[in-house]
Amino acid sequence: MERTAEKKAALITGGAKRIGAYLAIGLAAEGYDIALHYNTSETEAIETSGKIRLLGRECAMFKGDLRDINFIQELLRAAFDSFPHLSVLINSASLFKRGPIKGTDLKMFDELISVNYRAPFFMIKGFAKFCTGGNIINILDTKVSVYQNVYAAYIISRTALKELTSMAAVEFAPDIRVNGICPGIVLPAEDETQEYVRRLEDRNLLGRSGSPEDIVSSAMFLLKNNFITGQTIFVDGGENIK
Ligand SMILES: NC(=O)c1ccc[n+]([C@@H]2O[C@H](COP(=O)([O-])OP(=O)(O)OC[C@H]3O[C@@H](n4cnc5c(N)ncnc54)[C@H](OP(=O)(O)O)[C@@H]3O)[C@@H](O)[C@H]2O)c1
Repeated sequence: MERTAEKKAALITGGAKRIGAYLAIGLAAEGYDIALHYNTSETEAIETSGKIRLLGRECAMFKGDLRDINFIQELLRAAFDSFPHLSVLINSASLFKRGPIKGTDLKMFDELISVNYRAPFFMIKGFAKFCTGGNIINILDTKVSVYQNVYAAYIISRTALKELTSMAAVEFAPDIRVNGICPGIVLPAEDETQEYVRRLEDRNLLGRSGSPEDIVSSAMFLLKNNFITGQTIFVDGGENIK
């Protein structure tokens, strides 16, 4: 396939469901073909790819575990084979596990670091090798702004990725812009209680949850504004300054 100016494509990790699926469908609505990565959520990935195709865009699905460094290389190669015009990478996949420093064993630490930091690091490196011009967006977490020790290794993994966002922006400028989005409470984990959600909503200035569409519109803003790089936007109702 020839690389053409009008064709656009995005690779989204963890794109089968929840925020990743909203991003995939949102970008498809803006004219992007989608390389949709998922790991265990095959049924949801098929549903999301159906919605993308209904929008008239192509969708190629890629299944694999981001803890596997070989899979990361295969994913990038296969995504660029499917879409030579690929110019956007969104690192949205993540693992969320609770545990203070004292309650974090080596297995949990390694899992959180490898999904939430090592995988995006090598996705960014590989993407920059294949792509001569484009955009990377790292989906982070407003928790990077506080020392909430009950999520010690998770927060460290997200904070490291926030730092990498700026570092990569420096290294890959001017060809690739690299930015981050820190969501606040948007979609609580399925097993969380209403009380937990209310407690989180009370932590921000607006006293409510955000919506997945708030994350999608922030991603579109970063993609469209070609004078922004190395920045992280907090889409968290002001939680990071409360
Ligand atoms: N939801 C919120 O309110 C919120 C708040 C703050 C920050 N965020 C951030 O926003 C992003 C999306 O949030 P979310 O809640 O939609 O995420 P999520 O449901 O917790 O996870 C997104 C996807 O990550 C994938 N994933 C996990 N471990 C993986 C592995 N080892 N290999 C490959 N993929 C793996 C899963 O794919 P499969 O299901 O296919 O296995 C999962 O669907 C994340 O980066 C998260 O940290 C979300």
